[in-house]
Amino acid sequence: MELEGKRIVLGVTGGVAAYKAAGLLRLLTGAGADVQVAMTEAATRFVGPITFAALSGKPVLTDMWAAAADNRPMTHIDLTRAADAILVAPATADFIARLAQGRADDLLATLILARACPLLLAPAMNRQMWDNPATQRNLELLRQDGVICLGPATGAQACGEEGMGRMLEPETLQEALRAFFTPKSLTEKKVLLTAGPTFEAIDPVRGITNLSSGCMGYAVARAAAQAGAEVTLVSGPVARAAPFNVTRIAVQSALEMHAAVMKRAADADIFIAVAAVADYRAERIAPQKLKKSAGGLPEIRLTPNPDILAEVAALPDAPFCVGFAAESEQLETHAQQKRQRKNIPLIVGNLIQEGFGGETNHVVLFDDAGSHPLPVAPKTQIARQLLAHILALMEKK
Ligand code: C5P
Repeated sequence: MELEGKRIVLGVTGGVAAYKAAGLLRLLTGAGADVQVAMTEAATRFVGPITFAALSGKPVLTDMWAAAADNRPMTHIDLTRAADAILVAPATADFIARLAQGRADDLLATLILARACPLLLAPAMNRQMWDNPATQRNLELLRQDGVICLGPATGAQACGEEGMGRMLEPETLQEALRAFFTPKSLTEKKVLLTAGPTFEAIDPVRGITNLSSGCMGYAVARAAAQAGAEVTLVSGPVARAAPFNVTRIAVQSALEMHAAVMKRAADADIFIAVAAVADYRAERIAPQKLKKSAGGLPEIRLTPNPDILAEVAALPDAPFCVGFAAESEQLETHAQQKRQRKNIPLIVGNLIQEGFGGETNHVVLFDDAGSHPLPVAPKTQIARQLLAHILALMEKK
Protein backbone atom coordinates (compact mmCIF):
# COMPACT_ATOMS: atom_id res chain seq x y z
CA MET A 1 0.00 0.00 0.00
CA GLU A 2 1.55 3.22 -1.19
CA LEU A 3 0.59 5.42 1.77
CA GLU A 4 1.27 2.73 4.38
CA GLY A 5 2.23 4.26 7.71
CA LYS A 6 1.92 7.88 6.54
CA ARG A 7 0.39 10.08 9.22
CA ILE A 8 -1.80 12.71 7.64
CA VAL A 9 -3.91 15.46 9.18
CA LEU A 10 -6.89 16.06 6.88
CA GLY A 11 -8.26 19.56 7.40
CA VAL A 12 -11.80 20.18 6.17
CA THR A 13 -13.12 23.73 5.82
CA GLY A 14 -16.60 25.05 5.06
CA GLY A 15 -17.44 24.60 1.39
CA VAL A 16 -19.81 22.39 -0.58
CA ALA A 17 -16.84 20.26 -1.65
CA ALA A 18 -16.56 19.09 2.00
CA TYR A 19 -18.70 16.09 1.02
CA LYS A 20 -15.91 14.97 -1.31
CA ALA A 21 -13.45 15.04 1.60
CA ALA A 22 -15.27 12.00 3.00
CA GLY A 23 -14.48 10.08 -0.21
CA LEU A 24 -10.88 11.29 -0.03
CA LEU A 25 -10.58 10.11 3.58
CA ARG A 26 -11.78 6.67 2.53
CA LEU A 27 -9.18 6.47 -0.24
CA LEU A 28 -6.37 7.58 2.11
CA THR A 29 -7.19 5.08 4.84
CA GLY A 30 -7.68 2.41 2.16
CA ALA A 31 -4.12 3.12 0.95
CA GLY A 32 -2.80 2.52 4.47
CA ALA A 33 -2.55 6.10 5.76
CA ASP A 34 -3.26 6.99 9.38
CA VAL A 35 -5.56 10.01 9.10
CA GLN A 36 -6.63 12.47 11.80
CA VAL A 37 -9.45 14.76 10.68
CA ALA A 38 -9.79 18.34 11.91
CA MET A 39 -12.76 20.45 10.79
CA THR A 40 -13.60 24.11 11.02
CA GLU A 41 -16.93 25.03 12.57
CA ALA A 42 -18.23 26.01 9.11
CA ALA A 43 -17.25 22.60 7.68
CA THR A 44 -19.45 20.85 10.25
CA ARG A 45 -22.45 22.76 8.77
CA PHE A 46 -21.85 20.96 5.45
CA VAL A 47 -21.00 17.42 6.63
CA GLY A 48 -21.37 16.02 10.15
CA PRO A 49 -18.18 15.10 12.01
CA ILE A 50 -19.67 11.66 12.72
CA THR A 51 -19.13 10.72 9.06
CA PHE A 52 -15.43 11.57 9.30
CA ALA A 53 -15.07 9.92 12.72
CA ALA A 54 -16.58 6.70 11.36
CA LEU A 55 -14.37 6.70 8.26
CA SER A 56 -11.13 7.55 10.10
CA GLY A 57 -11.83 5.48 13.21
CA LYS A 58 -10.87 8.48 15.39
CA PRO A 59 -12.72 11.36 17.04
CA VAL A 60 -12.75 14.43 14.82
CA LEU A 61 -11.12 17.58 16.18
CA THR A 62 -13.28 20.65 15.81
CA ASP A 63 -13.00 22.77 18.92
CA MET A 64 -9.88 24.16 20.55
CA TRP A 65 -11.57 24.49 23.96
CA ALA A 66 -13.04 21.00 23.97
CA ALA A 67 -9.55 19.54 23.59
CA ALA A 68 -8.21 21.82 26.33
CA ALA A 69 -11.05 20.94 28.69
CA ASP A 70 -10.27 17.29 28.01
CA ASN A 71 -6.84 17.83 29.64
CA ARG A 72 -5.12 18.00 26.24
CA PRO A 73 -4.22 21.69 26.08
CA MET A 74 -1.35 21.06 23.64
CA THR A 75 -3.37 19.18 21.02
CA HIS A 76 -2.40 21.64 18.32
CA ILE A 77 1.32 21.08 18.91
CA ASP A 78 1.21 17.33 19.55
CA LEU A 79 -0.80 16.63 16.42
CA THR A 80 1.50 18.27 13.95
CA ARG A 81 4.66 16.92 15.57
CA ALA A 82 3.40 13.44 14.81
CA ALA A 83 2.18 14.20 11.26
CA ASP A 84 4.00 13.65 7.95
CA ALA A 85 1.78 16.20 6.18
CA ILE A 86 -1.34 18.32 6.58
CA LEU A 87 -3.75 18.38 3.65
CA VAL A 88 -6.63 20.87 3.71
CA ALA A 89 -9.37 19.73 1.31
CA PRO A 90 -11.42 21.71 0.58
CA ALA A 91 -9.60 24.95 1.43
CA THR A 92 -12.02 27.88 1.17
CA ALA A 93 -11.09 31.42 0.14
CA ASP A 94 -11.66 32.58 3.72
CA PHE A 95 -9.49 29.86 5.21
CA ILE A 96 -6.70 30.61 2.71
CA ALA A 97 -6.91 34.29 3.70
CA ARG A 98 -6.62 33.38 7.37
CA LEU A 99 -3.57 31.17 6.70
CA ALA A 100 -1.89 33.89 4.65
CA GLN A 101 -2.18 36.17 7.66
CA GLY A 102 -0.84 33.55 10.02
CA ARG A 103 -3.97 33.56 12.14
CA ALA A 104 -4.75 31.00 14.82
CA ASP A 105 -8.42 31.66 15.44
CA ASP A 106 -9.68 28.08 15.44
CA LEU A 107 -8.20 24.64 16.06
CA LEU A 108 -7.34 23.85 12.42
CA ALA A 109 -5.69 27.24 11.78
CA THR A 110 -3.81 26.91 15.07
CA LEU A 111 -2.40 23.50 14.35
CA ILE A 112 -1.35 24.68 10.87
CA LEU A 113 0.46 27.68 12.36
CA ALA A 114 2.16 25.39 14.89
CA ARG A 115 3.06 22.72 12.31
CA ALA A 116 6.43 21.08 11.85
CA CYS A 117 5.46 19.30 8.63
CA PRO A 118 4.58 20.24 5.02
CA LEU A 119 1.20 21.78 4.21
CA LEU A 120 -0.83 21.03 1.08
CA LEU A 121 -4.01 22.90 0.12
CA ALA A 122 -6.79 21.87 -2.27
CA PRO A 123 -8.67 25.13 -2.91
CA ALA A 124 -12.39 25.02 -3.73
CA MET A 125 -14.50 28.09 -4.35
CA ASN A 126 -16.65 30.02 -6.80
CA ARG A 127 -14.73 31.12 -9.89
CA GLN A 128 -14.98 34.80 -9.07
CA MET A 129 -13.73 34.24 -5.54
CA TRP A 130 -10.82 32.34 -7.12
CA ASP A 131 -10.09 35.12 -9.63
CA ASN A 132 -10.29 37.84 -7.00
CA PRO A 133 -6.85 39.47 -6.64
CA ALA A 134 -7.11 39.12 -2.85
CA THR A 135 -7.32 35.32 -3.15
CA GLN A 136 -4.48 35.17 -5.68
CA ARG A 137 -2.36 37.46 -3.47
CA ASN A 138 -2.98 35.24 -0.44
CA LEU A 139 -2.07 32.09 -2.35
CA GLU A 140 1.10 33.69 -3.67
CA LEU A 141 2.13 34.53 -0.11
CA LEU A 142 1.48 30.95 0.96
CA ARG A 143 3.44 29.56 -2.02
CA GLN A 144 6.37 31.77 -1.07
CA ASP A 145 6.19 30.17 2.37
CA GLY A 146 6.53 26.72 0.76
CA VAL A 147 2.87 25.72 0.92
CA ILE A 148 1.87 23.38 -1.94
CA CYS A 149 -1.31 24.23 -3.81
CA LEU A 150 -3.09 21.32 -5.54
CA GLY A 151 -5.49 22.56 -8.21
CA PRO A 152 -8.17 23.81 -8.44
CA ALA A 153 -9.67 22.41 -11.64
CA THR A 154 -12.01 24.09 -14.04
CA GLY A 155 -15.57 22.91 -14.74
CA ALA A 156 -19.15 23.00 -13.46
CA GLN A 157 -19.53 24.60 -10.02
CA ALA A 158 -22.06 23.96 -7.27
CA CYS A 159 -23.37 27.54 -7.70
CA GLY A 160 -24.38 26.71 -11.29
CA GLU A 161 -21.54 28.67 -12.86
CA GLU A 162 -18.72 27.24 -14.94
CA GLY A 163 -15.05 28.01 -14.40
CA MET A 164 -11.91 27.70 -12.28
CA GLY A 165 -12.36 26.73 -8.64
CA ARG A 166 -13.54 23.12 -8.51
CA MET A 167 -11.68 21.05 -5.94
CA LEU A 168 -9.55 18.32 -7.54
CA GLU A 169 -11.27 14.94 -7.41
CA PRO A 170 -10.41 12.67 -4.44
CA GLU A 171 -8.52 10.21 -6.69
CA THR A 172 -6.37 13.04 -8.06
CA LEU A 173 -5.65 14.38 -4.57
CA GLN A 174 -4.63 10.92 -3.43
CA GLU A 175 -2.28 10.66 -6.42
CA ALA A 176 -0.84 14.08 -5.62
CA LEU A 177 -0.14 12.97 -2.03
CA ARG A 178 1.57 9.81 -3.24
CA ALA A 179 3.70 11.86 -5.61
CA PHE A 180 4.50 14.25 -2.76
CA PHE A 181 5.85 11.39 -0.62
CA THR A 182 7.95 9.83 -3.43
CA PRO A 183 11.69 10.69 -3.30
CA LYS A 184 12.48 13.00 -6.23
CA SER A 185 15.19 10.98 -7.99
CA LEU A 186 14.24 12.13 -11.51
CA THR A 187 13.88 15.90 -11.17
CA GLU A 188 14.97 17.80 -14.26
CA LYS A 189 14.81 14.61 -16.34
CA LYS A 190 12.55 14.42 -19.39
CA VAL A 191 11.08 10.96 -19.86
CA LEU A 192 9.33 9.92 -23.09
CA LEU A 193 7.38 6.66 -23.20
CA THR A 194 5.18 4.61 -25.49
CA ALA A 195 2.45 2.33 -24.13
CA GLY A 196 -0.51 0.20 -25.12
CA PRO A 197 -1.23 -1.49 -28.43
CA THR A 198 -1.40 0.12 -31.86
CA PHE A 199 -4.41 -0.16 -34.13
CA GLU A 200 -3.68 -0.62 -37.82
CA ALA A 201 -6.78 0.14 -39.82
CA ILE A 202 -7.87 -2.10 -42.68
CA ASP A 203 -11.04 -0.18 -43.52
CA PRO A 204 -13.10 2.45 -41.59
CA VAL A 205 -14.30 -0.09 -38.99
CA ARG A 206 -11.75 -2.92 -38.93
CA GLY A 207 -8.13 -3.23 -38.04
CA ILE A 208 -5.19 -5.23 -36.69
CA THR A 209 -4.40 -4.80 -33.00
CA ASN A 210 -3.30 -6.82 -29.95
CA LEU A 211 -4.24 -7.40 -26.32
CA SER A 212 -1.74 -5.04 -24.67
CA SER A 213 -3.60 -3.34 -21.78
CA GLY A 214 -1.16 -0.46 -21.35
CA CYS A 215 -0.90 -1.35 -17.64
CA MET A 216 2.92 -1.65 -17.54
CA GLY A 217 3.60 1.48 -19.63
CA TYR A 218 1.17 3.58 -17.62
CA ALA A 219 2.73 2.29 -14.37
CA VAL A 220 6.21 3.37 -15.55
CA ALA A 221 4.89 6.79 -16.66
CA ARG A 222 3.21 7.30 -13.29
CA ALA A 223 6.29 6.22 -11.29
CA ALA A 224 8.50 8.58 -13.35
CA ALA A 225 6.12 11.50 -12.72
CA GLN A 226 6.01 10.70 -9.01
CA ALA A 227 9.81 10.75 -8.97
CA GLY A 228 9.75 14.30 -10.32
CA ALA A 229 10.37 13.74 -14.07
CA GLU A 230 8.66 15.69 -16.84
CA VAL A 231 6.79 12.83 -18.50
CA THR A 232 5.26 12.51 -21.98
CA LEU A 233 3.36 9.33 -22.72
CA VAL A 234 2.56 8.47 -26.34
CA SER A 235 -0.27 6.00 -25.91
CA GLY A 236 -2.08 3.65 -28.26
CA PRO A 237 -5.82 3.09 -27.73
CA VAL A 238 -6.47 1.94 -24.12
CA ALA A 239 -9.32 2.69 -21.69
CA ARG A 240 -7.17 4.37 -19.01
CA ALA A 241 -6.97 7.83 -17.51
CA ALA A 242 -3.68 9.68 -17.98
CA PRO A 243 -1.65 9.45 -14.75
CA PHE A 244 -1.36 12.58 -12.59
CA ASN A 245 1.20 15.08 -13.97
CA VAL A 246 1.74 13.11 -17.20
CA THR A 247 1.23 14.67 -20.65
CA ARG A 248 -0.50 12.10 -22.81
CA ILE A 249 -0.48 12.10 -26.59
CA ALA A 250 -3.17 9.71 -27.87
CA VAL A 251 -2.37 7.87 -31.12
CA GLN A 252 -3.86 4.93 -33.00
CA SER A 253 -1.42 3.53 -35.55
CA ALA A 254 2.30 2.73 -35.44
CA LEU A 255 2.92 5.51 -37.98
CA GLU A 256 1.18 8.05 -35.71
CA MET A 257 3.14 6.73 -32.71
CA HIS A 258 6.36 6.96 -34.72
CA ALA A 259 5.65 10.59 -35.72
CA ALA A 260 4.70 11.63 -32.17
CA VAL A 261 7.85 10.02 -30.72
CA MET A 262 10.30 11.31 -33.36
CA LYS A 263 9.04 14.86 -32.82
CA ARG A 264 9.99 14.68 -29.13
CA ALA A 265 12.85 12.15 -28.91
CA ALA A 266 15.78 14.55 -29.36
CA ASP A 267 14.58 16.53 -26.35
CA ALA A 268 14.22 13.51 -24.02
CA ASP A 269 16.78 12.23 -21.49
CA ILE A 270 15.20 8.78 -21.29
CA PHE A 271 13.05 6.91 -23.84
CA ILE A 272 11.16 3.83 -22.63
CA ALA A 273 9.35 1.87 -25.37
CA VAL A 274 6.71 -0.21 -23.65
CA ALA A 275 4.11 -0.22 -26.45
CA ALA A 276 3.23 -3.42 -28.25
CA VAL A 277 3.67 -1.92 -31.70
CA ALA A 278 2.17 -3.93 -34.55
CA ASP A 279 4.98 -5.22 -36.76
CA TYR A 280 2.88 -4.78 -39.92
CA ARG A 281 0.09 -2.58 -41.22
CA ALA A 282 -2.21 -2.88 -44.22
CA GLU A 283 -0.45 -1.55 -47.28
CA ARG A 284 -3.63 0.26 -48.26
CA ILE A 285 -6.54 1.31 -46.00
CA ALA A 286 -9.84 0.81 -47.84
CA PRO A 287 -11.75 4.11 -47.87
CA GLN A 288 -15.12 2.29 -47.65
CA LYS A 289 -16.15 -0.67 -45.52
CA LEU A 290 -15.04 -3.87 -47.27
CA LYS A 291 -17.97 -5.95 -48.48
CA LYS A 292 -18.19 -9.68 -48.19
CA SER A 293 -17.53 -10.82 -51.72
CA ALA A 294 -19.42 -13.72 -53.30
CA GLY A 295 -16.45 -15.60 -54.69
CA GLY A 296 -12.88 -15.98 -53.37
CA LEU A 297 -11.26 -14.81 -50.17
CA PRO A 298 -10.13 -11.20 -49.69
CA GLU A 299 -6.41 -10.56 -49.46
CA ILE A 300 -4.86 -7.93 -47.20
CA ARG A 301 -1.33 -7.05 -48.21
CA LEU A 302 0.87 -6.10 -45.28
CA THR A 303 3.87 -3.82 -45.09
CA PRO A 304 6.33 -3.44 -42.17
CA ASN A 305 6.02 -0.63 -39.62
CA PRO A 306 9.07 1.45 -38.65
CA ASP A 307 10.93 0.23 -35.56
CA ILE A 308 10.42 3.28 -33.34
CA LEU A 309 12.83 2.19 -30.61
CA ALA A 310 15.67 1.32 -33.03
CA GLU A 311 15.23 4.67 -34.79
CA VAL A 312 15.37 6.65 -31.56
CA ALA A 313 18.43 4.68 -30.42
CA ALA A 314 20.16 5.57 -33.73
CA LEU A 315 19.69 9.33 -33.27
CA PRO A 316 23.01 11.24 -32.99
CA ASP A 317 22.28 12.50 -29.47
CA ALA A 318 19.98 9.63 -28.46
CA PRO A 319 18.28 9.55 -25.06
CA PHE A 320 18.96 6.58 -22.77
CA CYS A 321 16.84 3.92 -24.52
CA VAL A 322 14.97 1.08 -22.84
CA GLY A 323 12.96 -1.62 -24.61
CA PHE A 324 10.60 -4.39 -23.62
CA ALA A 325 10.73 -7.94 -24.94
CA ALA A 326 7.67 -10.10 -24.44
CA GLU A 327 8.69 -13.62 -25.38
CA SER A 328 6.99 -16.99 -25.26
CA GLU A 329 10.25 -18.99 -24.87
CA GLN A 330 14.07 -18.69 -24.48
CA LEU A 331 13.73 -15.32 -22.79
CA GLU A 332 17.41 -14.54 -22.26
CA THR A 333 18.55 -15.44 -25.80
CA HIS A 334 15.76 -13.55 -27.53
CA ALA A 335 15.85 -10.52 -25.24
CA GLN A 336 19.64 -10.10 -25.48
CA GLN A 337 19.52 -10.51 -29.27
CA LYS A 338 16.79 -7.86 -29.45
CA ARG A 339 18.83 -5.52 -27.25
CA GLN A 340 21.86 -5.87 -29.52
CA ARG A 341 19.83 -5.56 -32.74
CA LYS A 342 18.23 -2.32 -31.54
CA ASN A 343 21.51 -1.15 -30.02
CA ILE A 344 20.04 -0.20 -26.63
CA PRO A 345 21.66 -0.40 -23.18
CA LEU A 346 18.71 -2.04 -21.38
CA ILE A 347 15.80 -4.34 -22.19
CA VAL A 348 13.07 -5.67 -19.90
CA GLY A 349 12.21 -9.26 -20.70
CA ASN A 350 9.14 -11.13 -19.64
CA LEU A 351 7.50 -14.39 -20.62
CA ILE A 352 4.07 -13.52 -21.96
CA GLN A 353 2.51 -16.35 -19.95
CA GLU A 354 3.49 -14.41 -16.81
CA GLY A 355 2.60 -10.78 -17.34
CA PHE A 356 0.44 -9.96 -20.30
CA GLY A 357 -2.73 -8.16 -19.26
CA GLY A 358 -2.40 -8.79 -15.49
CA GLU A 359 -1.66 -6.45 -12.58
CA THR A 360 1.55 -8.24 -11.60
CA ASN A 361 4.57 -9.05 -13.70
CA HIS A 362 7.65 -11.27 -13.61
CA VAL A 363 10.51 -9.60 -15.44
CA VAL A 364 14.25 -9.88 -15.96
CA LEU A 365 16.38 -6.84 -16.80
CA PHE A 366 19.11 -7.44 -19.39
CA ASP A 367 22.04 -5.06 -19.84
CA ASP A 368 25.78 -5.20 -20.63
CA ALA A 369 26.46 -6.74 -17.22
CA GLY A 370 24.08 -9.65 -17.84
CA SER A 371 20.70 -10.52 -16.40
CA HIS A 372 18.99 -9.12 -13.30
CA PRO A 373 15.81 -11.01 -12.40
CA LEU A 374 13.26 -9.06 -10.33
CA PRO A 375 10.86 -10.86 -8.00
CA VAL A 376 7.21 -11.21 -9.10
CA ALA A 377 5.54 -7.97 -8.04
CA PRO A 378 2.75 -5.52 -8.90
CA LYS A 379 3.54 -3.52 -12.03
CA THR A 380 3.69 -0.31 -9.94
CA GLN A 381 6.61 -1.78 -7.99
CA ILE A 382 8.35 -3.19 -11.09
CA ALA A 383 8.09 0.32 -12.58
CA ARG A 384 9.94 1.88 -9.62
CA GLN A 385 12.66 -0.79 -9.68
CA LEU A 386 13.10 -0.33 -13.42
CA LEU A 387 13.56 3.44 -13.00
CA ALA A 388 16.10 2.89 -10.22
CA HIS A 389 18.05 0.51 -12.51
CA ILE A 390 17.95 3.04 -15.38
CA LEU A 391 19.27 5.80 -13.09
CA ALA A 392 22.07 3.58 -11.81
CA LEU A 393 23.14 2.74 -15.40
CA MET A 394 22.98 6.40 -16.45
CA GLU A 395 25.14 7.42 -13.52
CA LYS A 396 27.75 4.78 -14.43
CA LYS A 397 28.02 6.12 -17.99
O1 C5P B 1 10.94 -5.74 -32.23
P1 C5P B 1 10.10 -6.15 -31.08
O2 C5P B 1 8.66 -5.79 -31.24
O3 C5P B 1 10.22 -7.55 -30.68
O4 C5P B 1 10.70 -5.30 -29.84
C1 C5P B 1 9.96 -4.87 -28.75
C2 C5P B 1 10.45 -3.52 -28.29
O5 C5P B 1 10.61 -2.62 -29.38
C3 C5P B 1 9.46 -2.84 -27.39
O6 C5P B 1 10.18 -2.02 -26.52
C4 C5P B 1 8.60 -2.05 -28.37
O7 C5P B 1 7.96 -0.96 -27.73
C5 C5P B 1 9.64 -1.58 -29.37
N1 C5P B 1 9.12 -1.44 -30.74
C6 C5P B 1 9.05 -0.22 -31.35
N2 C5P B 1 8.60 -0.11 -32.65
C7 C5P B 1 8.23 -1.19 -33.34
C8 C5P B 1 8.30 -2.46 -32.73
C9 C5P B 1 8.73 -2.55 -31.44
O8 C5P B 1 9.38 0.80 -30.72
N3 C5P B 1 7.80 -1.08 -34.59
